[in-house]
Amino acid sequence: MNNTKLKSILYKSNLTKDEILYLLSLTEEEEIAQLYNHADEIRKKYCGDDVHLRGIIEFSNYCDQDCLYCGLRRSNKKLERYRMTKDEIISTAGMITQAGLKTVILQSGEDHFYSKSLVSDIIQSIKEKFDPAITLSIGERGRDEYDEWKKAGADRYLLKHETANEHLYSTYHQQEKLKSRLAHIKYLKKIGFQTGSGNIIGLPGQTIEDIADDILLCKEMDCDMCSFSPFIPSNDSPLRKIPPANIDLTLKTIAVARIVLNDVHIPATTALSTLIDGGKELGLKVGANVIMPNFTPLPYRENYQIYKNKKTYDPLEYLDELKVMLVRIGRKVGKEKGHSLKLMLNQ
Ligand code: 5AD
Repeated sequence: MNNTKLKSILYKSNLTKDEILYLLSLTEEEEIAQLYNHADEIRKKYCGDDVHLRGIIEFSNYCDQDCLYCGLRRSNKKLERYRMTKDEIISTAGMITQAGLKTVILQSGEDHFYSKSLVSDIIQSIKEKFDPAITLSIGERGRDEYDEWKKAGADRYLLKHETANEHLYSTYHQQEKLKSRLAHIKYLKKIGFQTGSGNIIGLPGQTIEDIADDILLCKEMDCDMCSFSPFIPSNDSPLRKIPPANIDLTLKTIAVARIVLNDVHIPATTALSTLIDGGKELGLKVGANVIMPNFTPLPYRENYQIYKNKKTYDPLEYLDELKVMLVRIGRKVGKEKGHSLKLMLNQ
């Protein structure tokens, strides 16, 4: 098959929204394969064959927010809540670096129990003892807190915009405004954090236009990391009856994002591997270059239930399997911290 329109779009830079929509709407197997191959070439050009492993610690599942899609929402009274102590967090960070990983992601619900100074202490201790890159993924906090944590040594901050559709954003987030979320991301960037954003694919009411806008918004915000992850229902949320995201749309979104965004880190998410067996491998083959192995200790791990059936595994066994998989698909574990590709280009 020779689809000249497809070819011309794939080899163009600065795709328009219509062109992005065209790619996201492909249905012919052969054309989708062409899209994936091209995304994989772009990934190779900008990221090489290194897959960066970021060890994640989900240190608290308390959350002040009430996002309709999320199992950690504060109205969910069924969830057994936990908080890891500072020492537990630090020793888990030690396990991550001991396993050879160079980035520690500290993730939690929006939990103000962890004050400005407690989070700073944790960042400083982890940096002093093990010197990894540190990514925070702890929700919206105060500007003064962001400032302090940057000074304490945190390198990156993940705060997804979740959906670029203002109306949907407010519907799913207690009438909060997308603009306010974007202001947080811009501030984080301004003070020197490498920033991560992204969306959830498959939210009810979301259209393919919204997904094209999600990709374009990541471009406009000039984010360093962009995560496009499939919606999976949580049994204890108002969206419990909504079916999970379509796998093909999820993979096409990752591929198109790679083609549009070029020099960004894109993870093959846990949600993707929960949606389909071998999901991480599929993600890596269509544009992703990052994996975030979960080091949250048992029994806490089982209660970080953002959505149902979230994959749980022993991190060290998982790393062994992962390395075998990477060799099989011609990739390798990144040996460096895997900082922003934009910073590297500017050096
Ligand atoms: N399905 C998929 N991803 C979800 N998240 C929250 N709830 C869900 C869900 N039901 C994602 C959000 C958040 C990240 C930590 O988890 O995008 O930013």
